[in-house]
Amino acid sequence: MSKNGRIAILTGGGDCPGINAVIRAVAKKAILEHNIEVIGLLDGFDGLVRERYRKLSSADVSGILTLGGTILGTSNTANPYRWPTAMGPDLQFADASPTAMANFHKLAADCLVCIGGDGTLNIANRLFQDGLPVVGVPKTIDNDLHGTDITFGFDTAVNIATEGIDRLHTTAQSHHRVIVVEVMGRNAGWIALHAGVAGGADVILIPEIPYDISVVVGKVMERNRSGKRFSIIVVAEGGIGFVLGAQLEAATGIETRTVVMGHLLRGGTPTPFDRILATRLGTRAVDMIEKASFGSMPGIRGSDIVDVPLEDVARGQRTVLPDDPLVASARSLTTCFGDQ
Ligand code: F6P
Repeated sequence: MSKNGRIAILTGGGDCPGINAVIRAVAKKAILEHNIEVIGLLDGFDGLVRERYRKLSSADVSGILTLGGTILGTSNTANPYRWPTAMGPDLQFADASPTAMANFHKLAADCLVCIGGDGTLNIANRLFQDGLPVVGVPKTIDNDLHGTDITFGFDTAVNIATEGIDRLHTTAQSHHRVIVVEVMGRNAGWIALHAGVAGGADVILIPEIPYDISVVVGKVMERNRSGKRFSIIVVAEGGIGFVLGAQLEAATGIETRTVVMGHLLRGGTPTPFDRILATRLGTRAVDMIEKASFGSMPGIRGSDIVDVPLEDVARGQRTVLPDDPLVASARSLTTCFGDQ
């Protein structure tokens, strides 16, 4: 791309710690190194369809490295290909992608940078297939995207969840209780697995390993018999935390509490690891724009960054394999996954 060009940038789907660090990296490198003008689209694809945007100067992105959320706002319902035209019981959708394309061309931008998870990157891929020059940046606390070993936001979420488990440990121990901790992750158990191992959970329940309640009850009772009169159970979301808590209390007779960590895992300051990852991905995205590597995103493979076609991300969710080495390590320390 020639110097003095223009790019547009948006953030879509659920927010996560580190998004602002990516916006900062993309905008600063584009502006300071390449003299590229940066347009920030507001609230994800909503800003593209409704022409809501603002120019970002390097001053606008200064001081946001450590800031949670996204300064551009986001939306997880604004999909140009499934644009809601009527709300309420008569909810209807139309194809607003021609409007999105026309609005992009009106901006006279050379590239659309889409920071998002699988929903946003799938839309980005469709826009690319329909002719827009698009570069994606993978984002989600869930760590469930194909094409990258890790996404920024995950490390922060695991840190917050682990701190929560550590704090619950001491109160569970004092009161001789079972505490069920439900963490986010959509249909993937990455956060539960990593935070569960880091927090020394006695039981970790993830969607990828179906559990039997009697096995969980057995584990809690066995701990009780051995003198450990408390148990910490980390469970991936799906709203089962309270149901499981009630079932366990009824079956064991041990007082049980359930804590749902929910959106706490998505808010606030990113960890240093996520700030670094976001900075690496953001600056690489500008390199990709410079070499016109459109229809792709930077992904992490081992310790390297590679260009990954957005098509690869569209393959669905990357979930935990039941024989993941971390599952095996945890099992050998007698962590129960509810299946044996
Ligand atoms: O994808 C991120 C995530 O936080 C998931 O872990 C969770 O299932 C979902 O988003 C929650 O979405 P919402 O904020 O729309 O309730």
